[in-house]
Amino acid sequence: MPPHVPPTPQYDLAARRAEIPLLATTIPMNNCSQAPQTTATRAAAERYLESWNASGMDWDAWMDEAQRAKAAFARLINADADEVAVCSSVSEAASVVASALDFGGERPELVVSEAEFPTVGHVWLAQRRRGAELSWVPVRDGAVDVDEYAARISERTLLVSACHGYYQNGLVQDVARVAEAAHARGALLFVDAYQTAGAVPIDVRALGVDVLATGNLKYLMGIPGVAFLYVRRELIERLEPTVTGWFGRAEPFAFRTTALDWSPTASRFDLGTPPVMNLYVARAGMELVLELGVERIRAWHETLARRLIDGGRARGLTLHGPDDVRRRTASTAFVVPDAHAVETAMRARGVLPSARGPVIRLAPHYYSTLDDVDAALDVLADALGG
Ligand SMILES: Cc1ncc(COP(=O)(O)O)c(C=O)c1O
Repeated sequence: MPPHVPPTPQYDLAARRAEIPLLATTIPMNNCSQAPQTTATRAAAERYLESWNASGMDWDAWMDEAQRAKAAFARLINADADEVAVCSSVSEAASVVASALDFGGERPELVVSEAEFPTVGHVWLAQRRRGAELSWVPVRDGAVDVDEYAARISERTLLVSACHGYYQNGLVQDVARVAEAAHARGALLFVDAYQTAGAVPIDVRALGVDVLATGNLKYLMGIPGVAFLYVRRELIERLEPTVTGWFGRAEPFAFRTTALDWSPTASRFDLGTPPVMNLYVARAGMELVLELGVERIRAWHETLARRLIDGGRARGLTLHGPDDVRRRTASTAFVVPDAHAVETAMRARGVLPSARGPVIRLAPHYYSTLDDVDAALDVLADALGG
């Protein structure tokens, strides 16, 4: 049975589009890279600027904003706010986690897929100096087989690293099965959810994820400079990161320079002064996504992805990744000879795609229409024809 595909989204598409000024001139198809600005995210940035300007410093309100952003992120992934820390990027979040791991014991091994975004691979590679041994899970035909993970996980494995949605071709990994394979051997599971947060429903408890990191500038409608790290409650007090700072303390405002009092919550993974303005924007973006509902966004994404795949095929384009829209994020990748040249040509015609390696990615979001998809495909086909 083909999946049920609604002909229109289950929310007011025209109203949502009216909140995105960029749509007046441009067709953004680069949500796998950077989401467009909305009236809500702009207003959030202005709220911070106004607070700064009017008060000089409103520390209490700013710290409150950080807590509210953590709570919004927690709602998105079915966690509790005290299982969430604030970082500035996924690289930093992974580095904080890595710094808390001890590779000197009976589990020196990290099992990592070759499909990770490079930064995550780099963080794990850098741990070799601290005794870590890496075991790479190969990519075959654009996918990583969970059985290949299972074959490499052993009693020597400390942590398994998996990408929920692959940045290159949008494939959604069966994270629950990777978690089972990791836990069967006593290993932890780290998940990079940058390409799925806000696009694919995430329930960290149901999936069995131990640690999850994501930034906000893709389907969460945010900006660079802020990211979130989830650590499962039972794990928090077992981890003491050496990448740390005063916001990781139980009592940061006690200003005790000579004592390292670990916060009992995930705020032990916080570092220094949080990126307050970015958190204002991040919360506004996440609340927009929560208001629409990730399930409803996902249903519309599947309709858009079907149109992209079928429309691409009709125009002679070569799809990268699975044909089944239920196994993909909102991003659809086509193999092209010179992705950067194609991106430049498309931008000149008002369509924003995202080039990555050998592919051009078209990643619509909740506000995109089927007409947007058709127009983007026409421009892509023209760019290739030219
Ligand atoms: C899956 C994935 N992980 C990580 C990153 C980047 O992480 P960072 O926040 O460290 O720049 C990206 C960015 O494009 C990504 O797609």
